[in-house]
Amino acid sequence: MEIFDVIVIGGGPGGYNAAAYASANGLSVLLFEKDELGGVCLNEGCVPSKTLLNSAKVLNGFLHGKDFGVEFTGEGRIDARAVVDRKNRVVKRLVAGVRSKLKSAGVTVLKEKAYIEKKEGEFFKVSGTSSAFLSKYLIIATGSHAFIPDIEGMGEAVENGFALTNKEILNLTEVPGKLLIMGGGVIGLEMADYYNAAGAEVTIVEMLPKIAGATDNAVSAVLKKALEKKGITFLLGTKVTKIKNGAVTVSDDDGERDIAADKVLVSVGRRANVSGSGIENIGLSVEKGAIVTDEKMRTDVKNVYAVGDVNGKVMLAHTAYREGEVAVNDILGKNDAMNYGVIPSVIYTYPEVASAGYTAEEAIAAGINADEISLSLMYSGRYIAENTDYTGIMKLVYDKDEKTLIGASVAGSYASEYIVAVSDLINLKVPLERVKKLVYPHPTVCEVIREGVFEIKQ
Ligand code: NAI
Repeated sequence: MEIFDVIVIGGGPGGYNAAAYASANGLSVLLFEKDELGGVCLNEGCVPSKTLLNSAKVLNGFLHGKDFGVEFTGEGRIDARAVVDRKNRVVKRLVAGVRSKLKSAGVTVLKEKAYIEKKEGEFFKVSGTSSAFLSKYLIIATGSHAFIPDIEGMGEAVENGFALTNKEILNLTEVPGKLLIMGGGVIGLEMADYYNAAGAEVTIVEMLPKIAGATDNAVSAVLKKALEKKGITFLLGTKVTKIKNGAVTVSDDDGERDIAADKVLVSVGRRANVSGSGIENIGLSVEKGAIVTDEKMRTDVKNVYAVGDVNGKVMLAHTAYREGEVAVNDILGKNDAMNYGVIPSVIYTYPEVASAGYTAEEAIAAGINADEISLSLMYSGRYIAENTDYTGIMKLVYDKDEKTLIGASVAGSYASEYIVAVSDLINLKVPLERVKKLVYPHPTVCEVIREGVFEIKQ
């Protein structure tokens, strides 16, 4: 039986990055991926959704050209088939990129489903479809799947294609007339923005009183207003209680009613993939449906690590990348640990929404002597030059005792790109007085960060 230092199960961002990093550091690595390399993120998540959203952005530029003194002739519209074809080409190119990264790093890749058989002495025995292998270390990176709530009629609706998940919604070459979206979280909002641009009548049903989960209330409100202006309908404080072809039943304080729909997107969260890979054969602990890990990504079984969505901590691809590196560093005997505190998150709608660290509410609830400052993005000349409706805002949260930034939330252009500037200031605990001495390029929207720091009264 062939022996490797490390067997990685799952070729998504957590798994492939860990595999390449381990191999580049001199370990022999076998990576199992039963489907396509790149996992959900590359094939049916982050990347394809951004490709679709970019087409919506291009159309938006066309439709609003007049606001910028540009006139187009003809009618702008999304050709869903062409958008999906382009998305497929983008995904193919990136999957090939992952394959060549792994090849040049010297990772052995098997397109097979892995099953952990048992621990044999100091080795783990993992079988593929035709052979079994041994390894000293295991990295489990099996990802997550869309959660399908147990609602009357849901099983049948999923089976006959009336209800879709993140996977199928990215491949519709015909735009549904009426799209009902269950869940006003990240996936629901991004897909609402694209399908609204593509011509669907979109309704988002969200059980909470606000959209975008833990996002700052004011920032979430800016996003909601912008999406409403584009024609998206929100039913907040509302739950889907029944689903049958052509309609869903929703319930709120006023009781139940039916809403017509041609398709339903189910985007009410994700669940870790903890079954089917044999983790029970080595006695891994699972809590709240996810593999239990510590800050070094160790599970409770020696030499077994779990990275990415499967540990249920922060289900974001960029978290998974870092977790993979932390796990490998632990294997290599290098001191490293995850810091989950300031991981930036982005909603790639138009306007973009980005957050890092605490909201003021969260900071105060955590016992921090915190305050916040709210600024219009109109502090930025570039923002004014490139926009026509000036609704964008940035909130900065700071620790009054430590005199450092501890959180940021933004709604507006380029937020996805410059949120990292604030999250670095937070992470590195840069004193506010020091931030004032940093030079930001002009004109950029991120100058608002520096403006905001100057507005803070200390
Ligand atoms: P989510 O957790 O972001 O949002 C789910 C929403 O559904 C919540 O607001 C919840 O209150 C609502 N909900 C739950 N049950 C409901 C019901 N029965 N009726 C109505 N509303 C209900 O989950 P989502 O959007 O499915 O995303 C899943 C994961 O994928 C998240 O962890 C997210 O971080 C990740 N993701 C990240 C992206 C990004 O970083 N841009 C893009 C897409 C996904």
